[in-house]
Amino acid sequence: METTLPRCAAAALVLLAAPALAQTPAPKADLAAGQARAETVCAACHGANGVSVSDNIPNLAGQQPAYLAAQLRALRSGTRKNPLMNAIAAQLGDADIVNVAAYFGSLQPGYPGAKSELLPTVAKTQVAFPENYKASFTMYQTVNRTDINQVRYLWANPAALQAAREGRPMPPGAVLVLEQHAARLDADKKPVTGSDGYYVSDRFLAFAVMGSGAGWGDAFPEMLRNGDWNYAAFGPDMKLRTSVNQAECLACHKPLDKSSFVFSLEPMARVAKAR
Ligand code: HEC
Ligand code: HEC
Repeated sequence: METTLPRCAAAALVLLAAPALAQTPAPKADLAAGQARAETVCAACHGANGVSVSDNIPNLAGQQPAYLAAQLRALRSGTRKNPLMNAIAAQLGDADIVNVAAYFGSLQPGYPGAKSELLPTVAKTQVAFPENYKASFTMYQTVNRTDINQVRYLWANPAALQAAREGRPMPPGAVLVLEQHAARLDADKKPVTGSDGYYVSDRFLAFAVMGSGAGWGDAFPEMLRNGDWNYAAFGPDMKLRTSVNQAECLACHKPLDKSSFVFSLEPMARVAKAR
């Protein structure tokens, strides 16, 4: 009974302090909701345990929740720039941010060098290499990538071209191929430009392919899903590069929902209409 008095006093103090606290409501984190979001979406890159899947993606486990929340707000508003995270954070509400920040903050930090596996859903792709694309597809666009000294050739199959011509969304069966080439460099290590204004190819690097099929998008959470597109990268040998994280393709193309998730829809439509 001795403790009754001090307890009452403490309770009174809390009551007195309550109106002041109410002016700065710290939203209460829902750890279970944070975990659900983390395991379905964030896990594709940061690992379900907050230990990321690759060297260019930060670990989040054990980081300060307030720091994580502040970064997510900056990534959402665009004051911190990263194409993948800007696309993800744009889809997070205020409560979402508090919940995932609290959840990742509650996890044990990873060991140095530890990596998580790719999520099975994004490790799997339905896209097969379109063996005869040079015979049946149309090359509709060349892109100089001044930032990485690459020249890229973009090809579309007949189903994609027809939809682009008619101004319809990309249908199931659409396939787009992007050839990546390293530009030839001159003695000053500057890319050599051909008479057409595009870099001259020095060597072929890789294929990035997107293909659409009925129900192919069902495997992904809505925050990553690009309609029914699946993505894949292939080496010069046309073999699937299994280490590529499809979540990165999905996240970067995600903001293009108004143009069927395709960056180059306009030039594709122009070329399709001219044919
Ligand atoms: C497609 C891959 C991908 C997905 C999915 C993804 N992230 Fe990220 N995230 C990144 C990359 C890449 C960075 C590094 C950004 C940079 O370099 O500025 C990052 C950075 C962050 C940061 C900043 C960390 C720091 O140390 O400053 C936070 C916080 C974060 N992500 C939270 C999340 C949350 C929460 C989710 C799920 C809702 C999520 N991310 C989903 C790729 C992803
Ligand atoms: C960081 C952002 C980013 C990521 C990640 C990304 N892309 Fe793209 N993608 C682009 C941009 C920008 C273009 C337009 C052409 C260009 O600039 O090279 C493009 C174009 C394409 C095209 C031609 C159709 C179109 O949308 O214009 C294909 C096919 C493609 N990407 C496949 C992939 C695949 C496969 C991956 C994953 C292995 C991937 N992309 C990852 C930004 C990205």
